[in-house]
Amino acid sequence: MKRVLNSGIGLRRLIMSIALAFALNPAAAHAVNEGAAEDLAKAGKCFRCHSIDKAKKAPSYKRIAAKYKDKPDAEEKLIKHLSGAQKVKVEDGGDEEHEPPPAKDAADLKNLVQWILSRG
Ligand code: HEC
Repeated sequence: MKRVLNSGIGLRRLIMSIALAFALNPAAAHAVNEGAAEDLAKAGKCFRCHSIDKAKKAPSYKRIAAKYKDKPDAEEKLIKHLSGAQKVKVEDGGDEEHEPPPAKDAADLKNLVQWILSRG
């Protein structure tokens, strides 16, 4: 019991420091880093086919967000979709290669996916 009490103090300190980190860093409190997501989408030439809210050669990010709304596996599915090249059918009927974006790491790719999913 004594050990539990002692670790309770450590836990409280941990929670306090996490709360403080969020308070000091608005980007951490708001999970999506919009600037980084848009930069990555530009670098990946995603806007060649996608627009945020208008249909182009591909569905808009708004439509994709709506399609995946309330789907618990949305993030995982889109990360998978963007992790490798694959063939997609564009609006004019042709097949094109869907190239993965040049993400720095997994967190960078996840941020882009969360940004797309929050366009709805
Ligand atoms: C050559 C045109 C093209 C480019 C460039 C492109 N996409 Fe797409 N993308 C498509 C098409 C077409 C679809 C629809 C595929 C479908 O629904 O079968 C799609 C679908 C998607 C989807 C939804 C997948 C799903 O499961 O519904 C996401 C997310 C996406 N693209 C993100 C991106 C990102 C991020 C980039 C930039 C790295 C990108 N796309 C670049 C054509 C493109």
